[in-house]
Amino acid sequence: MAEPKNILSENKDGILYLTINRESKLNAINFGTLEEIKNIFNEVNDNKSIRSVIITGAGEKAFAAGADINEIAELNELNARKFSESGQEIFSLIETCHKPVVAVINGYALGGGCELAMACHMRIAASNAMFGQPEVNLGIIPGYGGTQRLTMLIGRAKASELLMTGDMVGAEEAKSLGLLNHLVPTKEDAIAKAEEILHKIMSKAPLAIGMIVDCVNSVFEVDENGYQIEANSFARCVKSEDYLEGTAAFLEKRKPNFKGE
Ligand code: COA
Repeated sequence: MAEPKNILSENKDGILYLTINRESKLNAINFGTLEEIKNIFNEVNDNKSIRSVIITGAGEKAFAAGADINEIAELNELNARKFSESGQEIFSLIETCHKPVVAVINGYALGGGCELAMACHMRIAASNAMFGQPEVNLGIIPGYGGTQRLTMLIGRAKASELLMTGDMVGAEEAKSLGLLNHLVPTKEDAIAKAEEILHKIMSKAPLAIGMIVDCVNSVFEVDENGYQIEANSFARCVKSEDYLEGTAAFLEKRKPNFKGE
């Protein structure tokens, strides 16, 4: 019998629903799960039937309770660097994806789970969500970009506190820290909110959405000139059919019909 997949995926009306499917291990992210995330995101940009992505965890208890500690316990100095670099690379496929990616979080988003949520463009949580980077309890630090993205999202002082103490924060605090776009009562509400936002984004010009991803990411790239990237991206948009359609539709007082061209 084939191994059950670590990630369930289903495309419904252009939204690709990805569910981390290791419920009995609180959706801990093992190497197999990471590989599946890599394969999926290597395809998302070029697959026209996918226009946006929602990532969530199976069951009611966890989004993902971290990287798989059974695998972490086997690391040595040499493969630990590779572990971190390849995880960072895979999560940056999500962050740089030209289609919007939303994390829907219920229950634990710890360690690699919190890092996965932070690599998404937006985060919507149910009220039982818990966030944290508890790696210090294991004698390590986050390795999938957590030290960087947590600091970018919530600022240096609070990120330092959470990274150094390993403390968890609940959904209310996560929202007030700026980690969340929206906080809603249940996972079903969070999916509905994500769908509402994604349907709105999917009615806009896809090329412009991809350019926004690049421009926003460039803010955090020390070697990039974000203003230059914005100007280049702006010019790229003006070369598109969707630009002609969007401006014509406004002037003709009708809804635009964007084609992503
Ligand atoms: N890696 C591997 N397995 C994990 C895991 C992880 N990150 N997190 C949870 N699990 C497994 C547990 O080992 C347990 O498996 P078992 O039933 O085969 O023993 C199962 O998931 C359920 O977890 P359990 O600890 O029994 O649930 P709980 O409700 O008592 O506690 C947590 C929940 C999240 C507080 C606890 O599981 C935990 O601290 N997990 C590790 C969090 C962490 O340090 N993440 C960062 C890793 S870098």
